Amino acid sequence: MNDIKFYNIMTYGCQMNVHESEKLAGFLKERGYIETQDQNNADVIVFNTCCIRKSAEEKILGNIGAVKPIKKRNPNLIVAVCGCMSQQKEMADLIQQKFPFVNIIFGTHNLSKFGEFLDDYNTTHKRIKSIEEETYINENVPMFRTSGYNGWVNIMYGCNNFCTYCIVPYVRGREISRQPQDIIDEVESLLKTGQYKVITLLGQNVNSYGKDLDSNITFAKLMQKICELPYDFKLKFMTSHPKDLTDDVIDTIAQNSKISKAIHLPVQSGSNRILKLMNRNYTVEHYLEIIDKIKNKIPNVSLTSDFIVGFPTETEEDFNMTCELVRKVQYNGIFAFMYSPRPGTPAANMDGQIDFEEKNRRVNILLKLEKEISLQKNKEMIGNIENCIVERKLDTKSNDEYLVKTDSGKTIIVKNNNLKELTFVNVKITNIENNQLYGEVIE
Ligand code: SAH
Ligand code: SF4
Ligand code: F3S
Repeated sequence: MNDIKFYNIMTYGCQMNVHESEKLAGFLKERGYIETQDQNNADVIVFNTCCIRKSAEEKILGNIGAVKPIKKRNPNLIVAVCGCMSQQKEMADLIQQKFPFVNIIFGTHNLSKFGEFLDDYNTTHKRIKSIEEETYINENVPMFRTSGYNGWVNIMYGCNNFCTYCIVPYVRGREISRQPQDIIDEVESLLKTGQYKVITLLGQNVNSYGKDLDSNITFAKLMQKICELPYDFKLKFMTSHPKDLTDDVIDTIAQNSKISKAIHLPVQSGSNRILKLMNRNYTVEHYLEIIDKIKNKIPNVSLTSDFIVGFPTETEEDFNMTCELVRKVQYNGIFAFMYSPRPGTPAANMDGQIDFEEKNRRVNILLKLEKEISLQKNKEMIGNIENCIVERKLDTKSNDEYLVKTDSGKTIIVKNNNLKELTFVNVKITNIENNQLYGEVIE
């Protein structure tokens, strides 16, 4: 008899969810389950969901629906739905009604109870629906990490910003920071294994780290402490909110060779009127000041951003200001989204909603502009020296080519007989062909 049990986790949304799926996997591993990519083989299927835009929700509902025939063939299959989408009460009710074959429904705040839910379901076979209102930190969650040499580390949960378009504060609760020592211990335990070469600190707004703690810890101090750990690694973080990106954070990034020189600083819009309606708490002028500071203090920095087009009342003129900002900053990459009204958020009820065709037109213009700029930016990288991680040897005829990665995730092909995988090397970028960068290792 074959009694190996398999699990399949479908993860949607941001890195926070990617990491939380590693926690879900931890609970399953603890109970002897093994991962499978094939839902038809699974004994447990978990949907770790996102509700940032309507399109995400629709896709997820479709994918949950598609499990129905699998459950029919295998009535013992356990189906669980958790994460941001099911944290919304109406959505949890809808999932409960629409998909009777879903056995366990829970939200973001009680993810650390997944093990209990599984055990309860396995003994009682009674449907579980448990959504909690408040978030809390549980340091004793098992993890099964699946992100290669990158170790995700949560430093805080939740968001206090209430940007008027955004659902995150409603489904993730208020900001709550982990104790610095718990974070440092976790980072150290990862680095000790020798397997992790990049540590990515996670939070919706990492710059507010520590504001809710009694100690005088700040995000900059936390990064400094982590960098003192005596290992060879890169420290990354996401995401920063421009209103809280203080000089001490910029200086810490500039002065510390272990901190990645790639900053994701979402601006959302280039129009002060729209930024105000979005409740972003900064102006374009203030944002550009920060960008100037960063560029002055961190040469060759890679800057990326998120944009929302078609926010209620956005005019052609507002949108042109966004394009103007993209031209001014010369980002290395951007994410551009069409505004999606989220039930319960202030912007969803604002007058002046823009229709889909117009949003679609604007997002395409922005993405086209971005493509031109990033091509140009890639060309400008020629001559730069970047500290890169050696990812792997390439399987090419010459057999001495390696793929290395910059802080911002750009791949460079270098020729060398003798590179060690997962070490850091300085690479001078020499040329670009078909948008692929080539370089040479320098001492
Ligand atoms: N906490 C992060 C990002 C969270 S969501 C931050 O503040 O930067 C990631 C991105 O999704 C946001 O930056 C925004 O550009 C986009 N987004 C959020 N809500 C949206 C909505 N209702 N419609 C379209 N895009 C949205
Ligand atoms: Fe959403 Fe704004 Fe919080 Fe980011 S800072 S998660 S966009 S409310
Ligand atoms: Fe989505 Fe939740 Fe992240 S809504 S973007 S998974 S915080």
